[in-house]
Amino acid sequence: MGLSKSKPELKHQELTFVDSFGSSRRLKAIPGQTLLETAVENSVDISTSCGGMGTCGTCRVFLEVTNGLVPARNDIEKDVADEKNFAPNERLSCQIEIPDDDFSWSFHAPEETY
Ligand code: FES
Repeated sequence: MGLSKSKPELKHQELTFVDSFGSSRRLKAIPGQTLLETAVENSVDISTSCGGMGTCGTCRVFLEVTNGLVPARNDIEKDVADEKNFAPNERLSCQIEIPDDDFSWSFHAPEETY
């Protein structure tokens, strides 16, 4: 009787960027990276003035979740969100870590920047 190797379970991780014209494109999501890092690696143009330190607010995006959870705001993001009166789905892309679970997210950058 031989040992059977179990196949690694494939995760369903779907990350979509929607541009200002409404066109969407699927991005390769890498768990552990921030959403900003993932966007930059996929040539999505998101402003960053503070280099991902969570202080400038220019990397904000609007995030829609159709499956899975989004990490709660950390203290850094909470401070910016409170100060700039963010909508509930308005998030700092530099502060959201891509999870290692199943998820389906789409996001777009705002029309105007700070
Ligand atoms: S890059 Fe500055 S807050 Fe995210």
